[in-house]
Amino acid sequence: MIEVVEKRNNNKVTNRIHLEFAALSDNESFARMAVAAFITPLNPTLEEMSDVKTAISEAVTNAVLHGYESRNSMEDRIYMDCMLRGDVLEVEIGDRGIGIEDVGMAMEPLYTSKPEQDRSGMGFAFMEAFMDDLEVESEVGCGTVVRMCKKIGTSSWIAIEE
Ligand SMILES: Nc1ncnc2c1ncn2[C@@H]1O[C@H](COP(=O)(O)OP(=O)(O)OP(=O)(O)O)[C@@H](O)[C@H]1O
Ligand SMILES: [Mg+2]
Repeated sequence: MIEVVEKRNNNKVTNRIHLEFAALSDNESFARMAVAAFITPLNPTLEEMSDVKTAISEAVTNAVLHGYESRNSMEDRIYMDCMLRGDVLEVEIGDRGIGIEDVGMAMEPLYTSKPEQDRSGMGFAFMEAFMDDLEVESEVGCGTVVRMCKKIGTSSWIAIEE
């Protein structure tokens, strides 16, 4: 899907922001609001806005809780790259935390490595449901990158030749 997006709009990136912030649970709402502000010029519906905010929250929460094991340290950083290609939002959220041994298993709905902390194992399932595409890359000991994209608005995925 991300390749399809890249072909759309002749691969043209129309806006881009890069944020780096401390992996503190307080920064989850900062990240969510920053992406919401970033897509506001596209006039998203309330549902699209809420979907994007939920997906961002889940990814940032995972980086804080799992990637950096809830250390809430200023030294631990989260990297967020947001791009628009016309009306398509692409977001990359990365951490340099512990990484994921088995990404396929981690992405299974209801799988959690922290059942004792009352996690429900639905974070990746929500990201998948609320966005148009989700890719996860991870290396144990190096960190994790989550890439998501979503088209905002009702125009078709197929670019119309002019
Ligand atoms: N950034 C990350 N770094 C390391 N491990 C991760 C990261 N993100 C997810 N994981 C692993 O993937 C599992 C599944 O993540 P998911 O978000 O689906 O569920 P959860 O966080 O355990 O529960 P919930 O999101 O419902 O509170 C986590 O339990 C964790 O083991
Ligand atoms: Mg989660």
